[in-house]
Amino acid sequence: MSQKKATVRTFQKMKKDGSKIVMVTAYDAPTAAFAQEAGVDMILIGDSVGMAMLGYSDTIPVTMDDMIHHSKAVRRGAPDMFLVGDMPYLSYHTGMDTAILNAGRFMQEANCDCVKLECSEEELPLVRRMVAAGIPVIAHIGLLPQSVKVSGGYRVHGREEAQAERLMKLALDMQDAGAFCVLMECVPAALAEKISKKLAVPTIGIGAGAGCDGQVQVITDILGIGSFLPKHAKRYAELGEATRQALKQYTDEVKSGVFPGPENSF
Ligand code: KIV
Repeated sequence: MSQKKATVRTFQKMKKDGSKIVMVTAYDAPTAAFAQEAGVDMILIGDSVGMAMLGYSDTIPVTMDDMIHHSKAVRRGAPDMFLVGDMPYLSYHTGMDTAILNAGRFMQEANCDCVKLECSEEELPLVRRMVAAGIPVIAHIGLLPQSVKVSGGYRVHGREEAQAERLMKLALDMQDAGAFCVLMECVPAALAEKISKKLAVPTIGIGAGAGCDGQVQVITDILGIGSFLPKHAKRYAELGEATRQALKQYTDEVKSGVFPGPENSF
């Protein structure tokens, strides 16, 4: 099923109308096609590909070339979908020009519709520059997985008053810098709701409660692939277990001579 291609204005309108935005990660063509058929509003080609697909223990080893490879596959699977390319570790930290060129690769090579980057106050001038260069930006705030070695691990951000005030200001500053959407990861629900109400641009949460304008989840978490389920995720299927069982049955049937049968032979 094909759907009308969304733009940044679509998400602005969804916020105004109170219509929730659904985002999910995808890293390959068939999954992207399923997401498009299901009516998901945008797909994030997240650097979570590192853990979800590439066997790394965090996002740090993921490169721009990895991201472009997976983004192109997602675009082939979901030609009409609004795609978000996730700027990986060190792709935007070594200079403004390199950052713009890397963001441009998502747009030019993979036909993405915008980029997402993990943001602190440091990234404000860069967000301004990207938007000026015609690259729509989603500002990711709160828990920043690429910085957990500095921040001291995966934890909720914004519990203390000073931290909460900082996140509110950062979200507003990102909006002023031109970000068309703010993504909040692991932020207390009450704070995320307050930020969502204050911002004119839509917010998307992961572990940030129901008061955000939309939600994002990592596809392998919600499909039951992988053993660890974060508190903020819910399993909608058990594909890991189904895959294990199918492969066991295939193995047993080849070994016992049940497969291939006459119906599978020429
Ligand atoms: O890479 C990713 O999947 C993300 C989400 C957790 C928002 O950044």
